[in-house]
Amino acid sequence: MAELKECVLVDGVRTANCRAHPAKGWFRALRPDELLTAVYLELFKRNPQVDPADVEAVFCGTANQTGMQNDIARFGWLASGLPVNVATNGVNQQCPSALASIEHAARAIMCGEGDTYVASGVEDMMNVSMGMGMDFPPRIANYCNPAELPMGATSEKTAELKNISREDMELVAYHSHIRAREARDSGKFSDEIVPVTGLDDEGNEFVVDKDQWIRDNPSLEQMAAMKPAFKPDGVVTAATSSPLTTGAAAVLLMSRDKADELGMSYTLRYGGGVMHGYDPTLMGMSAAAACNKLLDRKGLTPADIDVYEMNEAFASVVLAVMRELGVEENAPFEKTNLWGGAIALGHPLGQSGARLTTTLNNIMKTDASDAQYGVVMLCGGFGNGNAALWERV
Ligand SMILES: CC(C)(COP(=O)(O)OP(=O)(O)OC[C@H]1O[C@@H](n2cnc3c(N)ncnc32)[C@H](O)[C@@H]1OP(=O)(O)O)[C@@H](O)C(=O)NCCC(=O)NCCS
Repeated sequence: MAELKECVLVDGVRTANCRAHPAKGWFRALRPDELLTAVYLELFKRNPQVDPADVEAVFCGTANQTGMQNDIARFGWLASGLPVNVATNGVNQQCPSALASIEHAARAIMCGEGDTYVASGVEDMMNVSMGMGMDFPPRIANYCNPAELPMGATSEKTAELKNISREDMELVAYHSHIRAREARDSGKFSDEIVPVTGLDDEGNEFVVDKDQWIRDNPSLEQMAAMKPAFKPDGVVTAATSSPLTTGAAAVLLMSRDKADELGMSYTLRYGGGVMHGYDPTLMGMSAAAACNKLLDRKGLTPADIDVYEMNEAFASVVLAVMRELGVEENAPFEKTNLWGGAIALGHPLGQSGARLTTTLNNIMKTDASDAQYGVVMLCGGFGNGNAALWERV
């Protein structure tokens, strides 16, 4: 058996994350394929040494593959005018879809099936709303309560079972906005966001190069007054949930040999990934299960990881997962979501794994330039957790 190759992360770009709203969303006049086009073309513009025709395949994560997102992996590539010889593959693992795409590409590189892959993700939660067309199999009721499957219900169940207080969740949301605002204002996202023309509130065109959901002045008092979003006596609100969002992201992965041959620079090497199934009614905990399994296999512990990018699907979930791992107790976190999380930055379901990976790469290139290990992890709807390890080369 031939030795495994090394896979390196050469680059990552994303659109801004915008509100998925027909009157207020900055991307409301765009389609999801147009956002993919923006990130694909930018990736090749920034990396002119790479001929798009030499890409072995493109993986594209999308949680809801219907309507405008039906086979968006193929249509997004073709509608970008990119070479037809390049194969495309849509990937659906709910929220970790783009991370699964990255893992598929990395494994193919390591096995020697190809040298250059694009792994991407897109979700337009306005044009293709969450759960659109979804039809649970009736027999699932033999194994779990279907009323406990929707995401909001799982966030409430996590808070209840793990004793997460509403105040602690609001602190997570507060610091998420503060950190995202600071990162935005100090230009930390400028290397990853591709400007795209959108519409402001009045309908005028403008260049969108900033995330729309970040609150400049989050207020704990305001949050405390908000009504529960998912059940009358619940503790989870719109403020402590990731909001409905639209955005795309793409990363360029190469074998280290190929990257060196083309003179590409890189900081991180793929250190392995683990997908882990979990009780769907507690889907948030799937990220902890995936992370523990991954680190165990690598002979590492959660404390050995220097930087975490954990999808803030809900504040209850981040707190439950980070406490379970023994890494963080309360916000502000020491090594998790240093530039803000999905509560502030948004969570376009199938895109987030590529956004988190891109941000981790940029954090480890700048603010955490002495960090050795980074982990990206996401919980996933219906119990699909996913975690990937990145190591400084
Ligand atoms: C929670 C949820 C139901 C709220 O949806 P919504 O009712 O459409 O609410 P919005 O997100 O538009 O927010 C409602 C209002 O609260 C406001 N709000 C949100 N966070 C706030 C905060 N921290 N402080 C003050 N106001 C806040 C919003 O700005 C909005 O008001 P506006 O329209 O005047 O700007 C929705 O965001 C949701 O389902 N999120 C979870 C998505 C999900 O499950 N993803 C997968 C995870 S696994």
